[in-house]
Amino acid sequence: MSDAVALAHPNFALSKYWGKRAGPGNFPAVPSLSVTLAGFATRTSVRFDESYSGDDVVLDGQEAAGRPRERVVALLDRVRRAAGDERRARVVSTNDLPAASGLASSASGFAALAVAAVRAAGLDWDAARVSDLARRSSASAARSVFGGFVELEAGPLDVTEDVLLAARPIAPGEHLPLCVLVAITSERAKAVGSTEGMRRTMDRSPFAGAWLEQAPKLHAQLREALLSRDFIRVGELTEASTLAMHASAIAAGVIYWNGATLAAIDAVRALRDGGLAAYLTIDAGPHVKVLVRPADADPVESALRAAPGVLRVVRGHAGEGARIIREEGAP
Ligand code: PMV
Repeated sequence: MSDAVALAHPNFALSKYWGKRAGPGNFPAVPSLSVTLAGFATRTSVRFDESYSGDDVVLDGQEAAGRPRERVVALLDRVRRAAGDERRARVVSTNDLPAASGLASSASGFAALAVAAVRAAGLDWDAARVSDLARRSSASAARSVFGGFVELEAGPLDVTEDVLLAARPIAPGEHLPLCVLVAITSERAKAVGSTEGMRRTMDRSPFAGAWLEQAPKLHAQLREALLSRDFIRVGELTEASTLAMHASAIAAGVIYWNGATLAAIDAVRALRDGGLAAYLTIDAGPHVKVLVRPADADPVESALRAAPGVLRVVRGHAGEGARIIREEGAP
């Protein structure tokens, strides 16, 4: 028997990844840049044991089946192949955020799973190799392996399964202090997962080409604004990336927003009209994340709480990368 427990935080993209390269390996079609967020976490334990007859996957207290289970088993299979280990595993994972609702639980989930599975299998891999493993399950998860501000390049045009592509940290969280207020607008899992949402956008959106052309430019500008610690420009470009991504998805009928999402967007715009530097970002779900300077967090939090339909508001700030929290054999 060998086991390990890992913790990972979600991350929110400032410049968004939306769209995959054709071909195998789950390579993103555009570069992305994110901030890893402490304040929320996934904890995952992986135990390989020769007495198990099959893989057992428990997600948030429920036995997983179907696609969610298959995605976990696919990662375990990669680890088993690399380690020459045939043992089956038991995986137990808990989130302190609603899962599968666009709050980046797949990012923290697969980052924690990758870190725990690699350690439990006894593989001596560096963080880049672990990030590449996580990327194969969920590209955003590659970024949660690292803390602070993290970049993931687009995959090469001619992808093959064996190409390695890992995220890399570009600046620690202290580089640009910010607070993220997450306005939760639904407790339900989203109807269209990000893989399917991306596929529909690429297949059906009249604006897919415009997004694929625009995203790398926004990314390069955002990277530069971040490196020069320009909070306002980072905020403006983050919002621009979100709106361009969602515009391309919406034109394909992929609408992640609900009424409360729009109310929160309105609240952010009103705050800005009142002189507050608050900028929104939205992922593949209905929640609105608002970037503010730490000193501006209180009034922005109150305004979001008052937006009709917003259920609650939680705060996050830049955090560390995924890590082992309990070693093999420890009680
Ligand atoms: O890695 P996935 O499949 O969870 O896709 C993430 C897509 C977005 O969250 C919308 C954007 C991003 O870059 O995180």
